[in-house]
Amino acid sequence: MKNIVILISGGGSNMAAIAQTARKEGWQGKFGVRIAAVISNRPEAKGLALANALGIGTEVLSHRDFDSREAFDAALMARIEVHSPSLVVLAGFMRILTPGFVRHYAGRLLNIHPSLLPAFTGLHTHQRAIDLGCKVAGTTVHQVTAELDHGDILAQAAVPVLPGDTADLLAARVLTQEHLIYPQAVRSFFADSA
Ligand code: GRF
Repeated sequence: MKNIVILISGGGSNMAAIAQTARKEGWQGKFGVRIAAVISNRPEAKGLALANALGIGTEVLSHRDFDSREAFDAALMARIEVHSPSLVVLAGFMRILTPGFVRHYAGRLLNIHPSLLPAFTGLHTHQRAIDLGCKVAGTTVHQVTAELDHGDILAQAAVPVLPGDTADLLAARVLTQEHLIYPQAVRSFFADSA
């Protein structure tokens, strides 16, 4: 069995989209793939209840309990390693990871970023796209490297920026596309190596 570990910090809608697609498409039977655990760095993350409702085991490891980024990442890695993952999926995981962590999971660590990379790395991507008068925005699934929001691009989807858009409206439009391309990218990760 190949295990996926998903890391979240908030709503967990991308995590849920991946889990629902996995179930609907029968990834376990087809690719021998299952979601072994969902881990949140925030105890209040709404995605934890969502994961439990989907029958996935959840864990919380609060970064606030650690003195340094290195100490947190080491503890996080230890939690993840219990599941011997073939793939670690960052799904709204709002932490910058240390180079050691990224190196350890090189080639099997994916992220989704709410912009058409390489445009708009970092935070507040939707407001920045609106402020600059962009007509198109979107989202990117990419391999994670030590440089923030860089790494090989695996999938992208574009949406229009509409007159009168707010960051929230645009984020919601982008999110619907994220729920399509992230499950597809995870499926391809296993299907292409099967
Ligand atoms: C998504 O827009 C993702 O691109 C960004 O954070 C958001 C997470 O949403 N990294 P959710 O927690 O999956 O609902």
